[in-house]
Amino acid sequence: MFSNDEIVRRAHELAREIKRGQAGGQPCLVQVVEGARPFARLIQRALGCHALHDVRAKSYEGTVSTGEVCIEMLGGFSEVDLAGREVVLIEDIVDTGRTIAALRERFAALGAARVRVVSLLSKPARRVVDVAVEFVGFEIPDEFVIGFGMDIDERYRELPDIVVYDPEVERAFASAKA
Ligand code: IMP
Repeated sequence: MFSNDEIVRRAHELAREIKRGQAGGQPCLVQVVEGARPFARLIQRALGCHALHDVRAKSYEGTVSTGEVCIEMLGGFSEVDLAGREVVLIEDIVDTGRTIAALRERFAALGAARVRVVSLLSKPARRVVDVAVEFVGFEIPDEFVIGFGMDIDERYRELPDIVVYDPEVERAFASAKA
């Protein structure tokens, strides 16, 4: 769907947009692990920010359609004072919007002055929560994608490009390797 070159180019454009709207001082950069790592590195380097904090968010669909998101602030991030800070939240893909909505709410509750979200991908057709995503790399149709940090059951994060997951192709590769 997107080559590594296209991703890198788009990430640099997004970083320029983020910089243009910056309120002053270094923002507090936060990446949603694991998927956002490669994209977040590009944004971090382009913005010249030293620190990059990690947050993990797990969605639980359960039987209720609202879906609950469990948030974990990792590696000492929970001790960082966000009061009055500008947060730039970096995500790989916004799907239903629940994860970003929950994270925005959490950072607002912790006193962040402003939260801006940058997501490499967005699937607008899948949205169930109307959440603001200030910077989107690419809008994509309702397809499951892998690569450039994104996985299916922890597989294919290492792919340099973003591709549509196809179980048929996966089976063909597996039998060719065997
Ligand atoms: P949301 O809360 O439904 O917006 O979910 C966002 C999270 O779902 C992302 O951070 C990904 O971890 C995962 N996700 C959604 N769609 C895809 C996809 O197409 N490929 C890989 N992960 C996805």
